[in-house]
Amino acid sequence: NWSASGIIEDQIAKIKAEVGDAEVICGLSGGVDSAVAATLVHRAIGDQLTCVFVDHGLLRKGEVEQVKHDFVKATGIRLIAVDAADDFLTALKGVSEPERKRKIIGEKFIRTFEKAQRQVIEEAGAKGKEVKFLVQGTLYPDVVESGGGDGAANIKSHHNVGGLPKDIKFKLIEPLRTLFKDEVRAIGTELGLPDSIVWRQPFPGPGLGIRIIGDITKERLDLLREADAIAREELSKEGLDRDIWQCPVVLLANVHSVGVQGDERTYGSPIVLRPVSSEDAMTADWSRVPYDVLATISTRITNECRQINRVMLDCTSKPPATIEWE
Ligand code: XMP
Repeated sequence: NWSASGIIEDQIAKIKAEVGDAEVICGLSGGVDSAVAATLVHRAIGDQLTCVFVDHGLLRKGEVEQVKHDFVKATGIRLIAVDAADDFLTALKGVSEPERKRKIIGEKFIRTFEKAQRQVIEEAGAKGKEVKFLVQGTLYPDVVESGGGDGAANIKSHHNVGGLPKDIKFKLIEPLRTLFKDEVRAIGTELGLPDSIVWRQPFPGPGLGIRIIGDITKERLDLLREADAIAREELSKEGLDRDIWQCPVVLLANVHSVGVQGDERTYGSPIVLRPVSSEDAMTADWSRVPYDVLATISTRITNECRQINRVMLDCTSKPPATIEWE
């Protein structure tokens, strides 16, 4: 007889006992796992917890506000938000090779987080306190997939952004370590987190950086953010976003095709919709999204995003294709 409230109570008692009066730090990625883990720890120890959110500029439309405002409002958690978007863009300039993108984003993320971490340690020190723990939103499938160790076994190098440096001097608190995603969502709801956080679909750490095929620029990011927001809005409106595991929207920035928009000949880039259904992302099938919904998304994207004149559907399962294009 599994109950969200039972687990919450148990975890709160456990965290309180373990932490005592020490200070605790937690990285937020914008995803459901780190948000629920942080909220749970906050319930247990209140302002002994400080969260750090690194805005790498590769999140989707509205997601930064969701963390900085909605999440803080719902929980009252103390948050240090670092705006590092320009820094990441500079580091990524001219880079189009997927694994190099991942490596740059992963390393930059760790360095940026460490800087914020030093700030938390100093502030704690000024109060005569010590930061002893780091919260991570590790789930049961993460534990299994990585053989109980650290770092996911995958064909792509998964820098779990939001997860953190290897040379940690902190003890880990992982309150979701025995749970599956649906259980974490139930707990998030029970804790009063908004649906926009609880029902957020999986999103890769390197974010939109690996959904722009080609090199990453501010203009391309903004364009992809608009197209992605339209796809998400229409899928949610149809009540499909809880059936679909995730729907990457991908900008083929180096491909151009001829179109006619308004009265003008255009030469723009295609956008790919990649809706998939899956249990665990290890395998996936492409989702049979109704044609009408695809039509609406396509019309809106080509009307509202001037540089896009073609919308494609990726109808490949995994394997042979991976979910993300990079
Ligand atoms: P693939 O593309 O390998 O994706 O089929 C499987 C799942 O992992 C997510 N993904 C990532 N997550 N860092 C992450 O934290 C990454 O570099 C990364 N690459 C892919 C992807 O969104 C899907 O859910």
